[in-house]
Amino acid sequence: ESNLGRRMVVSLVGFVFVFTALVVLSFSAEELKLKYGPAESQPVRLFTDEDLAKYNGQEDNRPIYMAVKGVVFDVTSGRDFYGKDSLYNSLVGKDSTRAVAKMSLKAEDLTDDDVTTGLSEDELQSLDDVFNNVYKAKYPIVGYTAQRILNKDGSPNRNFKPEDQPHFNLKDEF
Ligand code: HEM
Repeated sequence: ESNLGRRMVVSLVGFVFVFTALVVLSFSAEELKLKYGPAESQPVRLFTDEDLAKYNGQEDNRPIYMAVKGVVFDVTSGRDFYGKDSLYNSLVGKDSTRAVAKMSLKAEDLTDDDVTTGLSEDELQSLDDVFNNVYKAKYPIVGYTAQRILNKDGSPNRNFKPEDQPHFNLKDEF
């Protein structure tokens, strides 16, 4: 009888062990896939201001996009922050570099133009911290703003040299 009891305990322990092993394995398989699997084959897009404005969180079933330093991030998973009527909705559907750098939601800082003109060293540093530790860490990159690369008339922006931009680190973006 105690033999039966022992057998039951052994099989229960065995079951728990196998179950735990399977759970652990499936998690690490997912992690490995993320680390070494083929990159998602989504083409990187070039966004005009009008393109980007469509992803401003007003439509419930459309992704939400936001640019920082000309890099367009899919912030849909942060819908609670960025969706319709959410606190930070004014930051999406555009390049919010300036607002992010200044931690400001004022209309004057929600401009697409001259996004880094006149920012202080501290603001540039803060911009970089948020760019790296929030946006790049949390959200997939879906493209770049045309403004980063083209002039308003569509000609290439020859003045734009990423490597000359304050705190720009192009190689880290890819
Ligand atoms: C009294 C002022 C503020 C307080 C107390 C505050 C607090 C917070 C907190 C607690 C979070 C994290 C929420 C979470 O992870 O669940 C957050 C996120 C955020 N805050 Fe603020 N905030 C303030 C002002 C601002 C301003 C002025 C901006 C302007 C740019 C801003 C931009 C953001 C953004 C963009 C996020 C979301 C980042 C993400 O996608 O993870 N915040 N805030």
